Amino acid sequence: MPDAPERRTARIFFALWPEAEVRGRLMRQGLKMHRLVGGKLTREESVHLTLVFLGDVAPERVPALQARAAAVRFAPFVLRVEQAGCWRHNGIGWVGPNQTPAALVGLVAGLEDALAGEGFLFDRRPYAAHITLLRKARCTPMEAKMSAIDWPVRDFVLVRSELNNEGSRYTIVARWKAQEEA
Ligand code: 2AM
Repeated sequence: MPDAPERRTARIFFALWPEAEVRGRLMRQGLKMHRLVGGKLTREESVHLTLVFLGDVAPERVPALQARAAAVRFAPFVLRVEQAGCWRHNGIGWVGPNQTPAALVGLVAGLEDALAGEGFLFDRRPYAAHITLLRKARCTPMEAKMSAIDWPVRDFVLVRSELNNEGSRYTIVARWKAQEEA
């Protein structure tokens, strides 16, 4: 019998990945929301904010992707996470900024331009900055206010996502630092 075909693509995306302290605070917020709307809590090591989702990319194209990402310039910024919500249409419980800060909009736009220049396709829907904390939640009207979490953003990452029976497992493939402001 022939071998099973080798999986030739990987689902990948660019993201902000919090350090331990911010991650812990986000998880505590997730636990609070879980008590209200249930669902499946994101694993602590998986908490992130997606910048650009590419989906399946052939491995031979990943070096070009990384070269483009390395050319994206951005200054460090603080992302204030202060709004909690639950989307009924997909059962996602999330937190995010009240308004996407200009620095984050700029980083996403910079990445999208760099990737489009290399012919990569990605979701062009308006960017909704969110951190998924719950899936399959029974969304009910929920107090949207939360204690603000200030997330110092100093880098972004490229992540590979693999599905297994417990859900998605993420591996950080590469990391790029912000340029310190002059
Ligand atoms: P989500 O948390 O709202 O599902 C990995 O799947 C990451 O990419 C998740 O943060 C996911 O958002 C995000 N993402 C954005 N667009 C996606 C898409 N079309 N399919 C799967 N994940 C997507």
